[in-house]
Amino acid sequence: MVAAKLVRSVLTIVAWIIIGISSIDATTWCIITNSATPEQLQPHLDYACSHGADCRPLQPGGDCYIPYNIYNHAAYAYNSFYIHRGKRPRACNFNGTATIIFIDPSPSRQCRFPSSL
Ligand SMILES: *[C@@H]1O[C@H](CO)[C@@H](O)[C@H](O)[C@H]1NC(C)=O
Repeated sequence: MVAAKLVRSVLTIVAWIIIGISSIDATTWCIITNSATPEQLQPHLDYACSHGADCRPLQPGGDCYIPYNIYNHAAYAYNSFYIHRGKRPRACNFNGTATIIFIDPSPSRQCRFPSSL
């Protein structure tokens, strides 16, 4: 009886841990740091878009073309790059101009930053 209770408690704890880890994974995004300058962001934006990030939404007519500024475009590209690299923390660095966050950074209903592929 005591053993069965113990097993149930352990299983409950394991389940909570699994749920916790998977929800963290599902709800992280990679964006720019607020100290990053346009001069720093531009080369990293170009790099992300040419190394796996899906930057089509940043093209004219795309869902994230607006807001049309380097901060929004770089953040979108960083996040897409991060997702395409399996959300590995090291994929969200860009020489210190990127950071992982837990709140959806999407700037509008039109421009959604995905949190998974
Ligand atoms: C990376 O950041 C450091 C310090 O901010 C800077 O001196 C260096 O030029 C940067 N390197 C690249 C490749 O952007």
